[in-house]
Amino acid sequence: MKKLFLIGKSLKHSISPFIHNRILSELGIDAVYSNVELSDFVKLKEFVEMVRKDKDVVGFNITIPYKEDILEFCDEVSEDVRIIKAANTVKKKNGKLLAYNTDWIGFKRSLEDIGVDVKDKKILVLGSGGAAKACIYGLYRMGVKEVFVTNRTYEKTESIKSLFEDILKIIPVEWLKKYDFKYDIIINTTSVGMFPNIENSPFDFENYVAGIPVFVYDIIYNPLKTTFLKEAEIRGIKTGNGLKMLVYQAVEAEKIWFGGIDITSNLIAEILNECE
Ligand code: ATR
Repeated sequence: MKKLFLIGKSLKHSISPFIHNRILSELGIDAVYSNVELSDFVKLKEFVEMVRKDKDVVGFNITIPYKEDILEFCDEVSEDVRIIKAANTVKKKNGKLLAYNTDWIGFKRSLEDIGVDVKDKKILVLGSGGAAKACIYGLYRMGVKEVFVTNRTYEKTESIKSLFEDILKIIPVEWLKKYDFKYDIIINTTSVGMFPNIENSPFDFENYVAGIPVFVYDIIYNPLKTTFLKEAEIRGIKTGNGLKMLVYQAVEAEKIWFGGIDITSNLIAEILNECE
């Protein structure tokens, strides 16, 4: 039986094994996907050594906090990983480790599914971590030319600006000044509001008098309705949560590991239903 893994520091609440094993069994692929918690960089190194030796390992996914660290151990990176400098998917091919990023595709496909028009919109991204980079790259691939970005630690936004300087314009906004501008779309990529701290929100609509956005998105999927999204809905704003992004990035990873497979929209809809 072939093996696939998700690696990260804390995976207790991850629903990725459910999503992947559901796809694998539906497609009749003889493989199993399981979580491996790695406490530090040394354990990450040991994991990669195991992957290189074990001929049954097809590949693995990477989550917080190893999406950037993993690049050190990979032999080749895709074009998007070269720009984003973070990978969430690795495939073993002819003994080599190839790094991919499917987070941005998951983000893009989920926005397309919801039917959000991002072109020529004023967009604010909250956060400047790995998830923010994937979402910003996704926006770029959807034709967006400039994005406002804010983060509690301002320097990280400055580094995102230089990372993307050749492809799109980043307008860095100080965390405390984020209420000063008018946005059509706000995207939360921070962990604020995630289980168990579900009462927290990265954006206080009470403080925001510059204008009502038309759409807000939260990449968090636990809970499905964060305080940020609830507060938006009260104001009549259309919302989207991170579940679709999670499922679509998983679908893309499966396609990378097992080229030529067909994951139908019916199956995707069933999985989304079962996760809700
Ligand atoms: P990911 O890969 O999911 O983006 P990350 O790199 O750890 O994970 O990023 C988490 C994001 O949530 C960061 O933007 C972080 O802000 P800092 O760069 O200042 O750490 C943001 N974040 C986490 N806790 C926060 C809090 N209490 N208030 C505001 N932002 C927070």
